[in-house]
Amino acid sequence: MPGTCVIGLQWGDEAKGKLVDILTEEHEIVVRYQGGANAGHTVVSNGQTWKLSLIPSGILRDGVSCVVTGGVVLDPASVIKEIDGLESRGVRVDGKLRLSDRAHVVFPWHIAEDRLLDGIVSGGEAIGTTGRGIGPCYRDKVGRSLAVRLGDLYRDDFRDRIGHVVDVKKRLFAGWGAEAASIELDADAIHSQYMLYARRLEPLVCDTTAYLLDSIESGGRLLFEGAQGALLDIDHGTFPYVTSSNSSGLGVASGSGVPGRWIDRVIGVVKAYSTRVGGGPMPTEQINAVGEHLRERGREYGTVTMRPRRCGWFDAVAARYTARLSGVDELAVMLLDVLSGLDEIRICSAYTIDGRRVEHFPSHVDDLRRAEPVYETLPGWQEDISAIRRYDDLPAAARRYLARIGELLGRPVSIVSVGPDREQTILADRPAVSKSWPRPQHPAPANA
Ligand code: IMP
Repeated sequence: MPGTCVIGLQWGDEAKGKLVDILTEEHEIVVRYQGGANAGHTVVSNGQTWKLSLIPSGILRDGVSCVVTGGVVLDPASVIKEIDGLESRGVRVDGKLRLSDRAHVVFPWHIAEDRLLDGIVSGGEAIGTTGRGIGPCYRDKVGRSLAVRLGDLYRDDFRDRIGHVVDVKKRLFAGWGAEAASIELDADAIHSQYMLYARRLEPLVCDTTAYLLDSIESGGRLLFEGAQGALLDIDHGTFPYVTSSNSSGLGVASGSGVPGRWIDRVIGVVKAYSTRVGGGPMPTEQINAVGEHLRERGREYGTVTMRPRRCGWFDAVAARYTARLSGVDELAVMLLDVLSGLDEIRICSAYTIDGRRVEHFPSHVDDLRRAEPVYETLPGWQEDISAIRRYDDLPAAARRYLARIGELLGRPVSIVSVGPDREQTILADRPAVSKSWPRPQHPAPANA
């Protein structure tokens, strides 16, 4: 099995980190291929809690190599902070961590732009970015003329390049109003600071595309770790309330340089309910006691920004869409224990938009805003399930709920998580398999 990938099917924070940590045992290389320091994952291992952002959690295991590829936008200060945090607790990164020379570098101007431009985009709502400079860095990547890649830090013309970019950015900022115009960008200071970062990271920087292709062609097993969730995909998510990279399964090949033909297992990760951080529509959001239950029991506060997450019922319309989009073979349902104690549990299996029943996920955010969930109501369970380790020992209502998720998404539920620790994981030996795929529906184009 050369390549496995783990993709979040919702709006991120699906507890992928725990799953990646477990699956790392079966792989030699863990690959992070998109996003940047906007992601955060928490791994609980042997009673210790680790919070990581860009560096894959595989770093905690001996004999595992971790790769951050060219599809990532890399903030050197943030990576160095993570490395320091690991090394201060006895985890060495040399020889284990590789950073792509093709990765685009986040600079102070990107972080300033993120703050300045995350205004209201449409419908009176801001995107609510993580403020890590992710979008502005990707914008410069696509724009090319103001982009700097990690490999550029080691070139003789690096000082000239910084001078050029700072000059252009200052002129742009001058036209963006008083606040932007007052942002100080000192080319010499930025250059000196980034040279220090460059020296520190130098032993880790290489051509990761060549490394990964060599590894996979010689039989290495790679685990691709998606960041964020597929509903935040720049092309296929709830645009413009998305992140700036391909966070669905479609981004694996372009972000890593490893063609999709090498990936033979795609695990779609969902929470047993829905959460979202930042702006944008979320049809099943519960601003009530149910939402409070999920937030408090699920500790639903952002790992990176500590913002309270918006919480709601499981949205099978959205997850079915992203499971298909990401080529998902099987499902991991995380945080099932959070649902204990609810009398009944709802699953959204369709929407009503302008009075019409719709089973596909709308491509335009305004249609999604008008979508009213059509719920199925299932019985809840009261038992604490966090100590259960076998599928058959789960309460009947929990098994029924998992089976319904599997049916609606058309994929078997093969992994169930009932708590943050590695041990609190159930591998379903009799997975909830669905034989019947949801019937595709193609509404007529609006202008037909
Ligand atoms: P950005 O990625 O910082 O530009 O933020 C764009 C949108 O994606 C915002 O709504 C963020 O809250 C959301 N987002 C980015 N990274 C994550 C993540 O790791 N988990 C959940 N939401 C995220």
